[in-house]
Amino acid sequence: MGLREDLEAAQRDGVARLMAAADAPALEAVRIALLGRNGRLKELKEAFAAASVEDKRALGPAFNAAQEAIKEAFAARARELAAATQDKPIDLTLPERVRRPGAIHPISQVAHEVEQVFQSMGFEVIDGPHVELEDNNFNRLNIPADHPARDAQDTFWLAHPTANAPRLLRTHTSAVQSRTYPVTRPPFRKVVVGKVFRYEAVDATHDNTFTQVEGILVDKAITVAHLVGVIRTMLTALLKRDDIEMRLRPHFFPFVEPGFEVDVRLTRGEGRLAQWMELLGCGMIHPTVLTAGGIDPSEWQGFAFGLGMERLTMVRHGINDIRLFNGADLRGIRQFGAG
Ligand code: FA5
Repeated sequence: MGLREDLEAAQRDGVARLMAAADAPALEAVRIALLGRNGRLKELKEAFAAASVEDKRALGPAFNAAQEAIKEAFAARARELAAATQDKPIDLTLPERVRRPGAIHPISQVAHEVEQVFQSMGFEVIDGPHVELEDNNFNRLNIPADHPARDAQDTFWLAHPTANAPRLLRTHTSAVQSRTYPVTRPPFRKVVVGKVFRYEAVDATHDNTFTQVEGILVDKAITVAHLVGVIRTMLTALLKRDDIEMRLRPHFFPFVEPGFEVDVRLTRGEGRLAQWMELLGCGMIHPTVLTAGGIDPSEWQGFAFGLGMERLTMVRHGINDIRLFNGADLRGIRQFGAG
C-alpha cells in the first residue's frame, strides 16, 4: 500500500474510532493513539519525511486534511459527550437520599460542660497520656506494687521487651496528679477529663473504657468543706435535675486521707437509677503524695476527686445501661444528636 492509501485508511479509521468513543477518557485515549507523540499520524509523518520532493508536494495537502479531519472529529465527539452528560434525565420516582447530620457524642457534650463549670471556678484544664508509667499510675500515689489497692483496678499492661520502666493503660486520671505536683508550684486548681481503661467485667454500670474527671486543688487552709462545696457546685450545674439525692461515704484510697465516695440516686428515677450509684471518689490529698511531688504538706493542703463521666451522664439523661456509650447500636446514642 502507498502512503496515500495509508493516510486515507488512518483518517477513516481514526474518525470512526473517535465517533464511537463511549466517554471522555475513552475519547482522549483514541486521540492520543492518533495524534500523540507515538501516535499513528506521527508514524506516517516519519514515512512522509522520507518521501521524494514530488511525492511530498502531492501528498502534503492530503496529510493536512487527514490531521484536520481527525481533530474535528475529536472536537465534535467531545461536544456530543458533554451534551449527553448535561441532559441526563432526572428520575423523579427515586427515593430521597438520606442525609444524617453528624452529632457530638453525649460524653463529649458533657465533657465540654464539665470544663466550662470548672473554668468558671478558676480551674485550669490539663491533660495526660493514656499510656502511663506504672510509677505515675500507682507508686507516686502511695500504691506500691504489693498494695491490695491495686487489686481494685485491674490493669492492661503493655509488654515491651526492653522496657525497664513498666507501662500500662492508665486506670484512673489520678495519674495526672503524679505528673502535676513535681512541676507546679501551689496554689493551683487543675481539672482533667480523659479516658481510662480497666480490665473489667462489663455490666450496666462498668465498662472497660470509660471517662473520668479529675479535680485537683492545692492551696492554704483547705478543708473537706471546700471539697464538698466544689462537688455540690459541679453536680448541681451538670445533672440538671431536681430529684437528686447525694451521700458521702468514708472510703479508703491510698492517695487521700480522709477519703470518701459520693453516691447519687434519683427519687423519680426508674430501675438502676432509683438505687444508689457511686459517682466519684475523693478526699484530702495524702501528705505522703504531696511530699513525693515536692510540696510541703505542713504549708499546703488540697483535695482531689475522680468522677465517672458515663455514670454522671446516665443520671443526667436517665440512661440505665453504660454500654450505650461505646456500643455499636447507634439508635440510643442518636437521640443526643442535638448538640
Ligand atoms: C478512682 O479511680 C480514684 N482515682 C478516684 C479518686 C481520685 C479518689 C482522687 C480520691 C482522689 P474509683 O475506682 O472508685 O476511684 O473510680 C472513680 C469513679 O469512676 C467511680 O466512682 C465511677 O463513677 C467511675 N468508674 C470506676 N470504674 C468504672 C467502670 N468500670 N466503668 C465506668 N465507670 C467507672
